[in-house]
Amino acid sequence: MSMSVLKSAEEMQRWALEQRGAGKRIGLVPTMGYLHEGHLSLIAEAKKRADAVVVSIFVNPVQFGPNEDFAKYPRDEARDLKLCREAGAAAVFVPPVPAMYAPDASVFITEERLGSGLCGARRPGHFRGVCTVVAKLFNLTLPHVAVFGQKDYQQAAVIRRMVRDLNFPLEIVVAPIVREADGLAMSSRNVFLSGDERARALGLSRALRVAADAVAAGPCAADAVRRRMSKELEKHALKIDYAEIVDAETLEPVGDARQGNVALIAAYCGKTRLIDNRVL
Ligand code: PAJ
Repeated sequence: MSMSVLKSAEEMQRWALEQRGAGKRIGLVPTMGYLHEGHLSLIAEAKKRADAVVVSIFVNPVQFGPNEDFAKYPRDEARDLKLCREAGAAAVFVPPVPAMYAPDASVFITEERLGSGLCGARRPGHFRGVCTVVAKLFNLTLPHVAVFGQKDYQQAAVIRRMVRDLNFPLEIVVAPIVREADGLAMSSRNVFLSGDERARALGLSRALRVAADAVAAGPCAADAVRRRMSKELEKHALKIDYAEIVDAETLEPVGDARQGNVALIAAYCGKTRLIDNRVL
């Protein structure tokens, strides 16, 4: 079966209604493109859970701050389409920005609790942009199941909450983080790293390991664990945006860190902001 490449909201919705009319289960994998093994693992997961998988590729301007890398964000549509085809996607949705946002768009979705700390605190408006575009993608692709990556732990939590609180009739699946052989979490932004930065970027996964080791023998003060993470990040000359230990459900900082908590890091490696996390 050939893969459909859809560009307009109308085409996308028509395709989705046709699939539903034919009794197919639709799986959605939302992405911003420049696909890597992490994205492909989500497509594989979606294929297990749906008859027809649609991958969206859209660099969403609304989730980028004014001083962030929207214009510079890596893009390679031809390569992405080829990867989606090889991965067995039934359709790819690649809308241009005007197909997604009217110039006077004035309805946006804000999650008011889980998205306020961590990345939400450092990137004001980010999760408002994410929630809005993901809600739109749900309405356009009418999925039975949507697959997200644990790589963006806070994002997955915010989306789950949106789906719960707004009664979107679909299931959210969160798939594990895919890493390079040395532990670096795969990310489209890794392409920005110079050779030296690529080596230093390992500090994030190393610091997460330090946190996991710290609680392996039992609970200990989160402050102490944070200091150990910071030391590891500084050893790799990374500029810390945050390094936190939080409750896996509420995303609130904990006093005592224990197994089942989540360690999350955002750090700048040169000009590139990287994130990673690990369930302890
Ligand atoms: P993007 O960064 O392209 O990521 C798309 C999906 O791939 C997200 O669910 C993300 O968590 C997942 N992903 C990224 N790297 C991964 C890795 N190494 N292992 C496993 N999964 C990984 O996240 C976004 O785009 C956007 O915010 C989006 C949800 C598409 C809304 O615009």
